[in-house]
This record gives sequence, C-alpha cells and structure tokens, in this order.
Amino acid sequence: MSWTPASWRAKPALQLPAYPDAQALAMAESCLEASAPLGSVAENRCLTARLAEVAEGRGFLLQGGDCAETFAEFGADKVRRSFNLLLQMAAMIGEGAGGEVVRVARMAGQFAKPRSAETETIGSLTLPSYRGDIVNGPDFDAASRMPDPLRMLEAHRQSRVTLDLIKAYAAAAYADLSGIHRLARRRLGLAFDHATPPGDAATPVEMFTSHEALLLHYEQALTRWDELTESWWATSAHMIWIGERTRQLDGAHVEYARGIANTIGLKCGPTLDAETLLRLIDRLDPDNRPGRLVLIGRFGAAAAGGRLPALMRATRAAGRKALWAIDPMHGNTVTAAGRKTRILPDIIAELRTFFEVARAEQVHPGGVHLEMTGEDVTECLGGTRGLREEDLGRNYLTHCDPRLNGAQALDVAAEVTRLILEGTRAASAVA
Ligand code: PEP
Ligand code: CO
Repeated sequence: MSWTPASWRAKPALQLPAYPDAQALAMAESCLEASAPLGSVAENRCLTARLAEVAEGRGFLLQGGDCAETFAEFGADKVRRSFNLLLQMAAMIGEGAGGEVVRVARMAGQFAKPRSAETETIGSLTLPSYRGDIVNGPDFDAASRMPDPLRMLEAHRQSRVTLDLIKAYAAAAYADLSGIHRLARRRLGLAFDHATPPGDAATPVEMFTSHEALLLHYEQALTRWDELTESWWATSAHMIWIGERTRQLDGAHVEYARGIANTIGLKCGPTLDAETLLRLIDRLDPDNRPGRLVLIGRFGAAAAGGRLPALMRATRAAGRKALWAIDPMHGNTVTAAGRKTRILPDIIAELRTFFEVARAEQVHPGGVHLEMTGEDVTECLGGTRGLREEDLGRNYLTHCDPRLNGAQALDVAAEVTRLILEGTRAASAVA
C-alpha cells in the first residue's frame, strides 16, 4: 500500500473542521511546511528506544498533561509547574519500577479536541462546537466558533516556546536530581538511603512531548522525510496518538499514523473488540517493532475488568510487542453539581484493574496516561486533600475535561508505585 503524508485525504475523516477559507488554509499549511521541526528525528528515535525497553518489561511510561493546552492559560510558570510535577511523579514511580520511567508530556502541541457533537446549542442559537484553540475559540459567538487556519500558526508558535521551556527546565533539573528523589521517597514514606540518584548528573533530564494527532492538516504540514533513516517522521511532537473517536481501520487518522516512524499511541476503549485491535496493530505496526506502539486502555472503572482481559490475551497470543498502558481518566467522566468531573476512587479502581488483569494475562503493565496540571485546580473529586462537590466551583478552569491537580496527581503516582511494588512482590512469591 503506497503512502504519502497526504494519503489520509482520500480516506473518510472524522472530527476535522470544515475550513471556510481555502486560501487562508493553504497559506497556513505552507508556513508550517517551511518551519523547523519541533521534535527532531534523533529525539524521536531515542523515545522509541526507551519505550522498546519498557515493552520488554523493563521500566514504565508516564504520560501526562493538560486535556487541552490553550492560548489564554499559557505561561512559563504553568509549564514549569507541570514539568516539575511530571518529574516528581516519575521519581516516585521509579521507586517501584525496575528500570527507567520514560516521561512523556501531553504538552507542546496538545491543542485539538475531538467532540461528541458537531454543534452546540444555547437557547435558540446553534454554533459549531469548540474543537480546541488550534481550530476555533471557546466563546459562544459565531466569530469565535468559526474554524480559522491561522490558529495553527499560533499553536505551533506556542508549542515551540513550550518545547524551549521544557528543554531549559530539563537542563536545569539535573542539578537537583538528588533533591527530587529525596522528596519522592519522603512522599512514599521511604527512607532516603542513596545520596546520588541513578543517571549521569551532567545529562539533562529527558522529557518527551506528545499530543493527539487529530488535526491532520497540521500533522501533514509538519511531516518530514529523513535521509538517514529513509523514513517519514511526524515532527509536531516526539509521540502522537490516535484518539478513541478516530481509530477507524480505514479512516484518515490511522492512514496518516501508519506511514510515520514515530512511536504511536492508540486509545483502546469499550467498543474495541480483539479482532479489530489485531487488525489495527497489523496496520500500524506490521513489523512488530518494540517501542512503536503504545496501546492505551480507557474503559472506565466499571467496564475495564470486562473488556481488558480479552484484548490483552489477544495481543499476547499473537506475540505482539506493543506496550500496554492505561488512561484511567477518559472512561471515568461523570457530572456533579452541573460540571464534568472525575472521582479519584474511580481512577484508582481502573488503575488497580489494569495491574491485576495484566498480571493475570502475563502482560507487562507498562504505563499510565493522565490528564493533570501543576496548577491548583478544582476539577476532579477526592484525593488526600478530600476535594468535594462544593469545592468544584472554586478553581474550575478547564474548557474540556477535568484534570487532576498537583496533589491529586501525586496521590495517583503513589498508588501506581504501590501497584507496581505489589506486582513485583507477587511475582517473586511465585518464583
Ligand atoms: C484525550 O486524551 O483527551 C481524549 C479525547 O481521549 P479519548 O480519545 O480516549 O477519548
Ligand atoms: Co481529555
């Protein structure tokens, strides 16, 4: 099957905006085509190599960040707080995982959102749904909701700045690795018994970037041919993923992703059966290359135990090297006090099910995918600080899905660490 960065255009495409101004779209696309890559091929290959290790059972993938980045909420402090939170969580999880914790931020490009409805109606007015700042604006007026291709250029600019900030923080963080590990151990109730954490203290901390490759006009314009590897690469991020609503086997999003060499994530929700999953894997990872594919379950606490065993059993029986991870956020969205929220015990229940099923199916439970922010938001309920329904209004900032705040994200990291350690203890008891 021949492939080009544009071959998705011949396939049925869901969730893409209808741009009214073709000339403006062409102009934005050619500006992006002329721009420098955001993620380099060398970094992309490094991430794949790191995840290949995890796929072989050594280490863990921590992927997290905003549901959607926005133009209005952007700032260096915000990036720094989320960056530090990811580092802290990775250090905690590293205390359990035998191997490296690979850190992948949902940042520097996570702007496009799939929506369940094409339009939104308030009173007598019906307008296109908000699809993320890279497409249109959140305000409920006709001008704001009009898809504007020039927004892709602003999203690209902000991604560039975010990536530069991440690189600067990563270079600075190596100096304090021992402090980060000391804090992680204190949070887990462990004694701090090694003065120098693993790793070379002169090397910047690794932090990769990722987003959902939803807006294919943007992705295509940032796809580059690399002479050395003789491959096409997405340079919009190190890793991209295909969302639950756009994973049709013959759809545009799978067509785009199959032709690029980056690590690809695939969201696996309650409607996915084992046969379709194997066909998707055949399409996306025909060479069964470890580190190429991350399967991200997102079922909801109630459904995970029913759906996950058959899928894991199928990939294991087929000898598939794809890495299994869990997104315990997107299947656990509920409404409370008129707002979309998620409840910590549900998130933790889905995590626990993931680890239990993986152990029973002899699959490596390899990663977690979270919507979270270093800001002190009140969007999810529960956690050690006990956020309650009446607290939701205090600092509810998201335009899309509810995120864990810093304290809740650390609660989840502590739970992940406990689950990894429980699995290791159970395995050594059997041995
Ligand atoms: C997301 O990750 O923000 C998202 C929309 O997830 P999903 O495709 O799993 O619903
Ligand atoms: Co989301």
